[in-house]
Parts: sequence; structure tokens; C-alpha cells
Amino acid sequence: MTTLVKEEAEPIVRYQTVKKSFGELEVIKGVDLDIYPGEKIALIGPSGSGKTTLGRMLMTLEEPSSGRILIGDEPLWQMESGGKQLPANEKHLQKMRAKVGMVFQHFNLFPHMSVLSNVTLAPRSVLKLSKEEAAERAQIMLAKVGLADKLEMFPAQLSGGQKQRVAIARALVMQPQIMVFDEVTSALDPELVGEVLSVIKDIAEEGEMAMLLITHEMEFAREVADRVIFGAEGRIVEQGPPEQLFTNPQSERLQSFLKRFL
Ligand SMILES: Nc1ncnc2c1ncn2[C@@H]1O[C@H](COP(=O)(O)OP(=O)(O)O)[C@@H](O)[C@H]1O
Ligand SMILES: [Mg+2]
Repeated sequence: MTTLVKEEAEPIVRYQTVKKSFGELEVIKGVDLDIYPGEKIALIGPSGSGKTTLGRMLMTLEEPSSGRILIGDEPLWQMESGGKQLPANEKHLQKMRAKVGMVFQHFNLFPHMSVLSNVTLAPRSVLKLSKEEAAERAQIMLAKVGLADKLEMFPAQLSGGQKQRVAIARALVMQPQIMVFDEVTSALDPELVGEVLSVIKDIAEEGEMAMLLITHEMEFAREVADRVIFGAEGRIVEQGPPEQLFTNPQSERLQSFLKRFL
């Protein structure tokens, strides 16, 4: 798939020399990454290389130890106040977080709430939409993921693939500028993987929203991504268009990583 990434467009997300340590363990060792509006990036790499941590930092679930992450021209963790840069307060973080959506490996749906209530919760509480407006928006998103007839069901009554599609609708309903999908099919039974990937492909084809797709599904990455990034041990090792990375990997590390998927 090719999304036209306008050369002159400003990045919507910038990681600027971002590092992250947990105690003594440095897991992100200086990442610079610009993501453009509408761009679809597949992030691949061995387990433990820091992919989830990169996504969680964008979602403000982890704070970088150093460096900055900007959305548009606004830093996530710093805010302007009276001409000075101050550490972000909760209000600033909430505003920035609303620009980003994230879908996790485990769906994290609220078990005691219906499908519709799971999807309307954030629009009502964060965007302050009325019950009717939130429900209208939620139904559009649930139809998009093929669940228009499941509004009144509870998570326990759904298959894993359906639960994951609810989680996708729940993130989409906030109309984020970028969505992070973190191995969203790796907890699913193999026969349910296809339906979830196909929903993500449909959303990708609509075009306007940027996506950071953390995945071990190489076929999917090749089809959907404009750019593939291979990370290992907290650094970006290699990146480029999918046809280049998958057919002509330069680094020995990527070559041996890809061999495992053949
Ligand atoms: N909250 C945390 N506390 C301590 N260590 C963590 C935490 N989150 C992740 N790590 C460690 O950081 C490293 C990178 O993890 P992660 O970002 O989940 O990698 P990936 O998603 O590529 O598998 C791993 O060694 C992991 O154990
Ligand atoms: Mg991970």
C-alpha cells in the first residue's frame, strides 16, 4: 500500500534522541524518529528490544529518561507557561494523550460494561460528548470493525477477535492523529488473526490517520506499511520501504531476524 507522504508536510510525531531506563536497565538508547501525517510504520524486532516501551511513551504511559517526544510542535512532557518550559501537568498530558490511540495485545475492555458502553466511555468522559452524540459516533466505529450487531453484548460473550475489534473501535472513536497497535494479534487463536488484520488494513486504507504498527506479522507489515523500522536492543538498526527491508536487508541482525520468519 502506498500513502502519499507529502515531502513538505511537517512530522506529526517526533522522537528526539529519546532514552528510557528502568532502574539500571537502559531499554531505549537514543531513538530519533519522525512520523508524518497518514504514514503507516511497521516496527519489527526481537522481543525485549523496546518496541512496546516506544509506543507506551507516545501514549504517555512511560516518561522518557531523556530526550523529547513532540506531537506537532508541542512536547509531550513539557509545557509552555508564561514563556517558560515547565514539566507537563496532568491537564497537558491529557490533552496530548487525546491525539494518540493505542491498542494492546490484551484488549483491556471493561468486563462489566457492554460493547457500546466500552466505546462511548472516553468520548463521554474526556470529550464531554452527550450520551446520544457518543453513541452515534461509537456505532459508526463499531460498524467499521464489523460489530454493528453486537452493541449490547458484554466482552465475555465475544470471541478474542471480536474483543480486539471492540478495542480498535474504542481507540478510533477518539479520532486520534496516530494510533499505536502493539502486537494486537499475538494473543489470538490463529484462526482469529485474519479478521483483526483485515480490519486494520481497511482503516489503513482510509489513509488520513498515522499508524505505528508493532507486529510480528511480516506479510501484513509488507502490505500495509509505507516504512518498516527494525529495532534491536533499544536502537533503530535499519529502516526503509518494505520491499527494500524485506528483500534486501543490509544488516546482519535484520538478515538473521528475518530468517526466522521464512
Ligand atoms: N515497567 C518496566 N519495568 C522494568 N523493566 C521493563 C518495564 N517495561 C519494560 N521493561 C524491560 O524493557 C525491555 C524492553 O521491553 P519492551 O519495550 O516490552 O520490549 P518489546 O516490546 O520489544 O518486547 C525488556 O527488557 C523489558 O523487560
Ligand atoms: Mg512488546
